[in-house]
Amino acid sequence: MTAYEVINPATAERVETVHLLGVDETDAAIGRAAKAFPAWRAVAPGDRARLLRRFADAVDADLENLARLEVLNAGHTIGNARWEAGNVRDVLHYYAAAPERLFGRQIPVPGGVNLTFAEPLGVVGVIVPWNFPMPIASWGFAPALAAGNTVVLKPAELTPLTAARLAELAYQAGIPEDVFQVLPGKGSVVGQRFVTHPLVRKVVFTGSTEVGKQIMAGCAGQVKRVTLELGGNNANIVFADADLEKAAVTAPYAVFDNAGQDCCARSRILVQRKVYDKFLGFFEKAVKGVVVGDPGAEATEMGPLISAAHRERVESYVDDADVAFRGSAPEGPGFWYPPTVLAPIDPDHRAVTDEVFGPVVAVLPFDDEADAVRLANDTEYGLSGSIWTRDVGRALRVSRGVEAGNLSVNSHSSVRYWTPFGGFKQSGFGRELGPDALASFTDTKNVFLSTEGTS
Ligand code: TAP
Repeated sequence: MTAYEVINPATAERVETVHLLGVDETDAAIGRAAKAFPAWRAVAPGDRARLLRRFADAVDADLENLARLEVLNAGHTIGNARWEAGNVRDVLHYYAAAPERLFGRQIPVPGGVNLTFAEPLGVVGVIVPWNFPMPIASWGFAPALAAGNTVVLKPAELTPLTAARLAELAYQAGIPEDVFQVLPGKGSVVGQRFVTHPLVRKVVFTGSTEVGKQIMAGCAGQVKRVTLELGGNNANIVFADADLEKAAVTAPYAVFDNAGQDCCARSRILVQRKVYDKFLGFFEKAVKGVVVGDPGAEATEMGPLISAAHRERVESYVDDADVAFRGSAPEGPGFWYPPTVLAPIDPDHRAVTDEVFGPVVAVLPFDDEADAVRLANDTEYGLSGSIWTRDVGRALRVSRGVEAGNLSVNSHSSVRYWTPFGGFKQSGFGRELGPDALASFTDTKNVFLSTEGTS
């Protein structure tokens, strides 16, 4: 085990020291999870449902504590952190309804009947990034547990605290310790072992496209099931017929929320040329009004970046670009970076083509519908996006044309726990949330039962 200091991104001070696990401890945990699987899958559906509901209630009772912990560990604003803990509760309640509804089918065939069963997979490894530690963890563990799998979960090295607390709450609720284990450690050690260990039957990975490719290649060795939720570089398309002021005043929250460290951040705003300047006028006022500062204060709308290294990376995208205007950011310790708007900008600039993952947005003009769709799709990613127009036909045409898994019209919302979430192209594959996710944690078994006499 190695000691690791967890840092508060708002102050650059140490919060706590955690112990990172090595390969042997990871293997031992996976072994325990595999041993716990037969008993967990045999728990009566109603009892498994009750345990998940009790887990959800424990999260609800601890909501403020979980939220405050995330403020300290990840620098999230207290408002966002409360939403995130509430999301875990809601996701648990949603999937608590599942064990009693996991039916198979019966298919009449000559001489008998075929029966299908939704069989749990075994041990599921969930690998979580640092940007939304709580919700993303629950999008993996809640449906996996509901379907009868046992879970080993690796939080990001930078943000292990809320995952550890969620495990305590699960045990308080009565979920056996070996059924749900949180293993703090490095991706290259603990995460990599999920990929290579033969008893881990599925890996749910959320993180960068670069690491996602390695995970997919590694899982191929054992034909291991994998869900990949990867990066994004999302377009916010504003047509001239839109409610321009509404589109402009909501746009900062679609990209600067969580300091832009959001796979769904609308980091490319595409504005129809004839209203480009007018949009920028409204947008500038809104950007300068974003309240950046102490993430624990109720009025704060944007906190710090996760680390000094990440701030350097974000800054490297802005170095040689034209900054049109900026919001504010506190001085002093902490990994602060102001909301930053790049315009005009070459569509081939790195800040447009890469996932910056910080509070930086590029604003580009387009001429017509076809041009907007072409620009929106001019990326290897395909996670989310927004379309602003009053023309319903255009909204639907453009929605069908944009290659992305999650789009919103005249809104920026991407996530609802009862609807599917996931990417096109190099943003990954497989779906989380909603009924689709549940199906991905089982394999279908087909049993032929002969009705011919045996004597
Ligand atoms: P990554 O560096 O890819 O890390 C994600 C997780 O994978 C971390 O827990 C990391 O552990 C682990 N990991 C790293 N190398 C590994 C390896 N070789 N084998 C197994 N696990 C490994 O991403 P990040 O910087 O934490 O998160 C930001 C990225 O996540 C962005 O690209 C963002 O778009 C994406 N993201 C996507 C979504 C969805 S839903 N599509 C949601 C949120 C974030 P360590 O912490 O120890 O490195």
